[in-house]
Amino acid sequence: MLSQAIVRPPATTFAQGITTAKLGRPDVDLALLQHEEYCQALEQCGLDLIRLRANPNFPDSTFVEDTAIVTETCALLTRPGAPSRMGEVNGIASILGQFYPELTIMKAGTLDGGDVCQAEEHFFIGLSARTNERGAQQLVGWLQENGFTASCVDIRGLPELLHLKTGLSYLGDNRLVLHEALAGHEAFKGFEQIVPQPEEAYAANCIRVNDHVLLPTGYPQLETTLQKRGYTVITLDMSEFRKMDGGLSCLSLRF
Ligand code: GLY
Repeated sequence: MLSQAIVRPPATTFAQGITTAKLGRPDVDLALLQHEEYCQALEQCGLDLIRLRANPNFPDSTFVEDTAIVTETCALLTRPGAPSRMGEVNGIASILGQFYPELTIMKAGTLDGGDVCQAEEHFFIGLSARTNERGAQQLVGWLQENGFTASCVDIRGLPELLHLKTGLSYLGDNRLVLHEALAGHEAFKGFEQIVPQPEEAYAANCIRVNDHVLLPTGYPQLETTLQKRGYTVITLDMSEFRKMDGGLSCLSLRF
């Protein structure tokens, strides 16, 4: 069971963050509202929230997931692949240190948490524009030391996926939701695979939080598919975060 989540609201500088989405400038007030609804949904799923202050020095800092890898037993601070985001890690270290007495700090390479998807004791690691081989290899080593297994999935030829989790979610029950560009990849053999229709591809970034699945609003086919599988779905409007290449998973560190 997950019990905590770290969240940070978007700052006044949010619109100055990195994006490739071409969906227009985000409305910061609306993003704040959507963020609050996201926080309330996590609380509804039983999580206690650690709410950090907005940090205008880092426009992308609401996407806290990229700064760390957190498991039930251990945590690692990453080295985000975008130079403008590297400093975000400092603001997370002291908080995570309160929960994890031995916090590992990555020493080399780059790695964004958005490229790391945990499926029980196994981790999928995306090699992307943000996560390089050196960073991924360090993570593999650290995971193995801590009793986990890992496999790498190269998404560098898939510009529609900023991060691996842009197109991949693990729902528990040996079940993945994955973008059609990832369907059939040998790393995912043995899992049940739910592939959203191309027009619903954004919803491949959804999150299982205890007894619920959080899904972006506006993807009825996937919502019905998940409900038929027995999930209780909470939908959340993510329009302003999508404009900044963000999704549901990026907005929290859950442990
Ligand atoms: N705007 C999110 C990111 O580029 O990391």
